Amino acid sequence: MTPALYKTRLTELFGIRHPVLCGGLMWLSDAAYVAAAVNAGALGFMTARSFPDPRDFRDELRRCRELTDGRPFGVNLYLSQQPGANDMLAGHIDILLEQGVRFIETAGLPPKDLLPRLKDAGCTVVHKVSALRHALSAQKLGVDALSVVGMECGGHPGVYLIGTMVQGLLAAQQLTLPVAIGGGIGHGAQLAAALAFGADGVVMGTRMTVAKEIWAHPAYKERVVAAGETETQLVLQSLRNTYRALDNETARSVAALEAEGVTDHERYSPHVAGTLQKEAYTSGDWNKGLLSLGQAAAFATALEPVEAIVDRMMAEAQAAQASLNAKSATSGATAAE
Ligand SMILES: Cc1cc2nc3c(=O)[nH]c(=O)nc-3n(C[C@H](O)[C@H](O)[C@H](O)COP(=O)(O)O)c2cc1C
Repeated sequence: MTPALYKTRLTELFGIRHPVLCGGLMWLSDAAYVAAAVNAGALGFMTARSFPDPRDFRDELRRCRELTDGRPFGVNLYLSQQPGANDMLAGHIDILLEQGVRFIETAGLPPKDLLPRLKDAGCTVVHKVSALRHALSAQKLGVDALSVVGMECGGHPGVYLIGTMVQGLLAAQQLTLPVAIGGGIGHGAQLAAALAFGADGVVMGTRMTVAKEIWAHPAYKERVVAAGETETQLVLQSLRNTYRALDNETARSVAALEAEGVTDHERYSPHVAGTLQKEAYTSGDWNKGLLSLGQAAAFATALEPVEAIVDRMMAEAQAAQASLNAKSATSGATAAE
């Protein structure tokens, strides 16, 4: 286990060893994965929506607490635009507070309505956005930190589609709250770059989908391992609900409907249902369902434990820093003097 190498506002805020957030992964970030992230020195977020039955959610939180020996972990609350889809959140918040969870990752709509309750209960909230302008607005709402993900990310890259190299730097320059940069992150050199930008850490999703502790079928993980940076596809842009997913049969069917100019959401439903994702993860039939995946799939080259992934990232970050120092035009002169 790599000792702490970096101290940032994010490591301080969450009391974590490494400035690495493992964002919520729908259906995948359960107790085993989240605990593995925490035990590796990062912060993992369990997706509340993966456990619609409150009893299952409570059991999963208890299991996670056991697996982390009581060390804090987080919960992801995704705020949907679908009418009625956020009704379940109040009950889930009751349960997570009852179970002692105090670290929350919100995403989707601004967490305006949830914040008073979460803050009164002493929660630390990191809100994740895909555009700097949304981060600037969220900062005024009273969240504690921000994650800003670029268009390389798996899942929802938003509508502006600005890459992490540009948006990440702008975020670090313009936001006053602690900020994690995400979208395409899967190598420690990028962590070093994010810190060099002035950010406080990174947020990752895609890179972690092949972790040993992720319960999904090995055939799905092998497909991600095989995937390179060109094997994801942006779909649903025409419905202003842009989504980056594995380039599979479902993504191509959705792209074909868009190319036909179909705007009736009902026609998309058979392809985009979340239950299809769960089926694909269970069966390993990765052609079924819109499976969130980002360009960082290129860095997911082996099935290995979360701790190995995190440790390698930290070693890579140090190597990147050493490489940068070695390229300093003045360091040789200084040494010779
Ligand atoms: C398989 C998968 C499922 C995801 N599910 C969620 C989710 O339920 N809620 C959420 O806020 N973000 C979700 N995300 C986004 C991640 O938490 C993270 O923000 C994103 O993956 C970072 O970009 P990257 O994919 O380039 O690492 C998901 C990403 C992936 C790859």
